[in-house]
Amino acid sequence: MLSSRRVRPRRTPSPFIRITHWIGALSMLAMIGSGWQIYNASPILPFEFPAWATLGGWLGGGIAWHFAAMWVLMAAGVVYLGYGVLSGHFRRDLRPVGPRAIGRDMAQALRFRLSHAAGHYNAIQRLLYTGVLIVALLTVASGLSIWKPVQLGWLTWLFGGYDVARRIHFAMMTLIVAFLVIHIALALLVPSTLFGMVFGRRPSAAPEVSVQEGGAR
Ligand code: HEM
Repeated sequence: MLSSRRVRPRRTPSPFIRITHWIGALSMLAMIGSGWQIYNASPILPFEFPAWATLGGWLGGGIAWHFAAMWVLMAAGVVYLGYGVLSGHFRRDLRPVGPRAIGRDMAQALRFRLSHAAGHYNAIQRLLYTGVLIVALLTVASGLSIWKPVQLGWLTWLFGGYDVARRIHFAMMTLIVAFLVIHIALALLVPSTLFGMVFGRRPSAAPEVSVQEGGAR
C-alpha cells in the first residue's frame, strides 16, 4: 500500500520558517496596502494609488493598519531571523554564492533551464531572498526613523533627514513589490515549492524540476 510515509521528501522548510513566512507575507501585504493609503494623503510623486489597492479607507484607518501590521511583522521577523541564525538555516540554505554561480544560474534561467526544486535554493533564489531580507530590514529602519524622528533622531540623521528617509522608505517598498511579482510568478511556475511552503513537504514523489518543466505542469 502506498503511504505518504514511504516517499520521504527531501529537506523542506521547517514549521518555524513556514509559519513566520506566511504571517510575515500577510502582514507585509497589509503594510503595503495601508502604506499606499497613507501615501495618498500626501503623495511625494505625481500619482496616487487606486483606492481598491489601499487598506484602511482613510488616513487614520491606514495608519492604524500600518502600525498593527508592523508589530506582527516585527514579531514574525524576530522569530524568523533568530531561528534562521540559530538553526544554521541561513548559513546552509541562504548563504550567498559567488558571482560565477550567479552567472551560471542566470544563463540557465534565461534559457528557461534553471533548476528550481523544493528544499534547495539556486543562486538566483539565494540572491533574491537575501536581498529582500536586507531591503525589509531597511524598510523597517527607515519607517521607524520617520515615525519617531525626534526620539530616533540619530536614525533619521543616518538616513539623511526626514524627507530623504521618507523617499528611501518608498523606494524600499517599491523593491519589495518588484520582488513579490517575481517571487509569486516563480512559486506559481513551480507549484511543488508552494506546496512545500504551505504543507512542509513536497507533493508525493514530486520530481526535481526546472522552471521550464514547472511551467508546463
Ligand atoms: C504573498 C505571497 C507569497 C507567496 C505565494 C510566497 C511563496 C513562497 C514560496 C513557495 C517559497 C519557497 C520557495 C522554494 O522553496 O523554492 C517562499 C520562500 C521565501 N519567501 Fe515567499 N511568498 C510570498 C510572500 C513573501 C513576502 C511578502 C516575502 C518578503 C518580503 C517573502 C520572502 C520569502 C523568503 C525570504 C523566502 C525564503 C525563506 C527561507 O527559506 O528562509 N515571501 N515564498
